[in-house]
Amino acid sequence: MNDQPASATAARARSHTAPPCALVIFGTSGDLTRRLLMPAVYNLSKAARLSSNFALIGVDRSKRTMQQFHDDLGEGIRKFVSDTGGNSEAGGGEPFDEKAWNFLTQRTNLVDGDVTQPLTYKRIAEDLERAKREHQTGGNAVFYLAVASSLFGTIIENLAAAGLMEETDDHWRRVIIEKPFGNDLASAKALNARVLKVVKESQVFRMDHFLGKETVQNIMALRFANSIFEPLWNRDHIDNVQITVAETVGVERRAAFYEQTGAMRDMVPNHVFQLLSLTAMEPPNSFDPDAVRTEKTKALQGLVPFDEGDLQRNVVRGQYTAGVVRDQNVSAYRDSDGVAPNSKTETYVAMRLAIDNWRWAGVPFYLRTGKSMTRRTSEIAIQFKHAPFALFRDTAVDSLSANVLALQIQPDEGASLQFSAKKPGPEIQLGGVRMDFRYRDYFRAAPSTGYETLVYDCMIGDQTLFQRADSVEAGWSAVQPILDLWKNDHRAPLEFYAAGSAGPEGADEMLWRSGRAWRPID
Ligand code: BG6
Repeated sequence: MNDQPASATAARARSHTAPPCALVIFGTSGDLTRRLLMPAVYNLSKAARLSSNFALIGVDRSKRTMQQFHDDLGEGIRKFVSDTGGNSEAGGGEPFDEKAWNFLTQRTNLVDGDVTQPLTYKRIAEDLERAKREHQTGGNAVFYLAVASSLFGTIIENLAAAGLMEETDDHWRRVIIEKPFGNDLASAKALNARVLKVVKESQVFRMDHFLGKETVQNIMALRFANSIFEPLWNRDHIDNVQITVAETVGVERRAAFYEQTGAMRDMVPNHVFQLLSLTAMEPPNSFDPDAVRTEKTKALQGLVPFDEGDLQRNVVRGQYTAGVVRDQNVSAYRDSDGVAPNSKTETYVAMRLAIDNWRWAGVPFYLRTGKSMTRRTSEIAIQFKHAPFALFRDTAVDSLSANVLALQIQPDEGASLQFSAKKPGPEIQLGGVRMDFRYRDYFRAAPSTGYETLVYDCMIGDQTLFQRADSVEAGWSAVQPILDLWKNDHRAPLEFYAAGSAGPEGADEMLWRSGRAWRPID
């Protein structure tokens, strides 16, 4: 098998340009392709990251002509190319690069077909042969499944049955799927089993788009490329860790999906646990993809299982009521189109977790995520233990703030360190101060949707930023007891919080009980 790099470093050092390949996109007319995937492919083309032996093949049933297809995608790219998930101004205002776009249109073909029908895969096989002849793709292919997750198993089975996942010494075949990987532990296991029956783990790239964010990748750089943080990164020095993913968006037009999903399934076993595992993992032996993924998985496997007592003490679920978010009136979740008037779906969840290992024993990890909150912010805050008070006993205790290292994931990407300093004057009085690092002050980010690195990494065969089957299952295993208890136990009530607030009161109480408080969101 060619081009399977031994490590991320090796892969990146070997070549700046991805190897020859065809990118086959299932679901070209969907939102994901238009908003994120195609703008990312365009950005890769612009940055000369794609091989000159590249081909793009779209598969769907839209019966569009090639011109219509190009027009649709071109319009999407112009609109979304600088848009990191719809929220950032990174790269905004860059002129449209006709050369990069023409590079793609000259290499694009459409295959019309129903993805449940074997005939479609025969056509894809023929088109891959054509791409190999016309564009010298070498027979390598990435299949990107930008379709409903219910089709993942069907498409992968059909690809395998048509021989399209077979690898040889001359060519490789890979498939990218994006969350949700199941909607509970059982369905995630079933999907993994179904997929791994017909393809190898090394061919499956399970994408969590949080890992495409530079600041998420930076967690490892911060921890393992600096010598000042790691010696403090343990229970001897850290009092607690707070992970916040607060959003201002509400359910929008996704009620059909969200009613069945809720904040826990939508955000916790995937995005929030990516942040948790990168924060809590042990240093890997190398940056070999499997070395990294093994350590991340071990961190999740170390989470202490929830029991019934925890459900009342250590988990809070909430739903937003009417309120004002960023000066806009927002109606209650239950009044949104497509939402049941008595819906019990949570739009907010907070929990206290513990990791049972040498490094973290006794350190609570507090997680919270919610929609329609006061401000959009995602951060990891490492809260250090208080200094011994004796020396400063004449200083008001509340002004002796603990040191906090806050990694700001988005927006306003950066990191800050909070510590105490002496206030000027004859008395010894302390005040809290902050040292700030902002990405934009040091680095000029290339326009990015966050998908560029992930698509490129798949092309070079680097799985570091993709989820392995055991890691997906470890995430679901940790939340499954809560999902089960919520289903059967009415002693864990749904709380309400006003849209535009920082979440339900129960979440504050959860921390107060141990003499702690959340970091303010606004
Ligand atoms: C998605 C969730 O996976 O991630 C959405 O389904 C959520 O509900 C989104 O809004 C958050 O991603 P980002 O990149 O906008 O922070």
